[in-house]
Amino acid sequence: TTNTQWGGRFSEGVDAFVEKFTASIEFDQRMYRQDIAGSIAHATMLEKVGILTSDELNQIVQGLNEVQQNIESGNLEWSIPLEDVHMNIEARLTDKIGITGKKLHTGRSRNDQVATDIRLYVRDEIDFICQEITRLQEGLIMLAEREATSIMPGFTHLQTAQPVTFGHHMMAWNEMLERDFERFQDCRKRVNRSPLGAAALAGTTYPIDRHMTANLLGFDAPTENSLDSVSDRDFAIEFCSASSLLMTHLSRASEELILWTSAQFNFIDLPDRFCTGSSIMPQKKNPDVPELVRGKTGRVNGHLVSLLTLMKAQPLAYNKDNQEDKEPLFDVIDTVKGCLRAYADMVPAIQVNEEAMREAARRGFSTATDLADYLVRKGMPFRDAHEVVGKSVGYGIEQGKDLSEMSLEELQQFSDTITEDVFDILTLEGSVNARDHIGGTAPAQVLAAAGRAKQKLQAR
Ligand code: ARG
Repeated sequence: TTNTQWGGRFSEGVDAFVEKFTASIEFDQRMYRQDIAGSIAHATMLEKVGILTSDELNQIVQGLNEVQQNIESGNLEWSIPLEDVHMNIEARLTDKIGITGKKLHTGRSRNDQVATDIRLYVRDEIDFICQEITRLQEGLIMLAEREATSIMPGFTHLQTAQPVTFGHHMMAWNEMLERDFERFQDCRKRVNRSPLGAAALAGTTYPIDRHMTANLLGFDAPTENSLDSVSDRDFAIEFCSASSLLMTHLSRASEELILWTSAQFNFIDLPDRFCTGSSIMPQKKNPDVPELVRGKTGRVNGHLVSLLTLMKAQPLAYNKDNQEDKEPLFDVIDTVKGCLRAYADMVPAIQVNEEAMREAARRGFSTATDLADYLVRKGMPFRDAHEVVGKSVGYGIEQGKDLSEMSLEELQQFSDTITEDVFDILTLEGSVNARDHIGGTAPAQVLAAAGRAKQKLQAR
């Protein structure tokens, strides 16, 4: 038997394997709510322009609501011969309300329908993802305020560089997420346009009102060009690109958390509930959550490349290739949401080992730059100061002493410009407090940055 939705011109049924091979119902069923909302908006518009009677509209709306209830209560069996979510729902509607159900598809094609569904779906997920980013940022800012004065070594090349505060480090992560939030918001503007009415590719001969359907679905406006509307998936690629950058940031944070929880660093402790043990080594507590987030970054990057490759060189307008957009896109959404949830739950529970961080900063000659700056303030050219401090550090390594642990006489071996007041700047507190400008690590600046960041979150 031929297909009930498009079998008119066919003389034989589709090959059983081909039917499965071309079906998308296994993965596009998750857009059922968007599909039904789109159909209700379309039908509402068809009634307004006189294509459906108000009685027909009522039947369609009621029927679609019932279909939705059937889906949500698990009483609708998805059919592979019906190929995708669009035809499954339309067929169920027609089962329920008869001939009127067959009028729903007037002035519409699955091509504008699927583009509408994906846009609605991505828009909703962007809104949820942005809420989760905000929740994570709240945790980071809270941690930054709590640890505004906790000193740790700042690194370059993963070698101890200068002292910073743990709060400052958390606010660095917050800035990355702030830009991720902005990127998703920016992407949302281009997602939130209505392709409905583009029909198969050229528009439709019916007197449709595209502004009305756009409005009903909460889109900002209809898209401009029917060919473009049904073919491009750049909005999904953009979403995946913003997701890749978000994951890149989470993977960097993960790498640091993993290092910091190791016995060698011992800077922080993650609560047991975010870690797992080893089946052979009884002492182990592994930072699985950050490790998995770091690993999942790879699959998001992979999906981004999949979609770019899928879109590349597709001629206008719709091609079946685009059915392949969904699995990568949905996996990106699921992965990003999972990672954000784990992070937003975990970050506020991070415990900081202040003593170990301070000790690491002290051991690593992290105030060496401060000593050089001190000599410069006393009139020495920076290059000479660099040399003097380099020699002092060499001596410190030999003697096993940090700069702040040397006596004045010891320091004066390298320059008699050094006097008693040097000890004010060689302390870790002196070093961080001195970096007292916007964006600097001084605790006062970290608290000010946290205050500004909280205001931004409140304005959302
Ligand atoms: N399942 C299809 C997709 O995901 C819907 C659009 C099909 N359109 C068509 N002309 N075959 O893209």
